[in-house]
Amino acid sequence: MLDLTNVKAPIEMANGLPNGCYVDADLYQHEQNTLFRNNWAAIGFGKDLPKPGCVKPIEFAGLPLLLVRNHDNEIKVFENVCRHRGMILVSEAQHLRGPITCPYHAWAYDLNGQLRKTPQTTPPRPRRGPPPPTTLQRDGGEGDSGAGPYGSLGSSRHGTRPRAHGCSCAPGL
Ligand code: FES
Repeated sequence: MLDLTNVKAPIEMANGLPNGCYVDADLYQHEQNTLFRNNWAAIGFGKDLPKPGCVKPIEFAGLPLLLVRNHDNEIKVFENVCRHRGMILVSEAQHLRGPITCPYHAWAYDLNGQLRKTPQTTPPRPRRGPPPPTTLQRDGGEGDSGAGPYGSLGSSRHGTRPRAHGCSCAPGL
């Protein structure tokens, strides 16, 4: 662990952080785990998802996340990873007319993170133990969105296959 005695000294005697704080991979990972992944953090704005069906992928603290505005006009945040084989689900901001569909085997999730369709495979068994956290709702739709504990996409309910199309949900991306 770092010796921060000189950093915490009275200001007239204190030094800055040691150089290692800026380049040490272990310390970087420690910061990711303790500062960013365990607390709320601002990761976007409500205007990035102007209408229901808009989705926007981001990376935060080394994790691929997906911001989603659902049909109740709520902003949700999920891991942007398919529960089947781990494919990234959405690679660019867009407006979806249906569920979030994995580009690999077309498993489909609704805008609340529920698995709706598993073509070419048998449905997954329900998980044992308590369900994973499913949302990171911050404000119900109009303000900023935040991330703390990330929801996972998927359950075992089925529905119809979605059709996606591009739009200008997030200009400048
Ligand atoms: S990896 Fe997503 S459906 Fe197979």
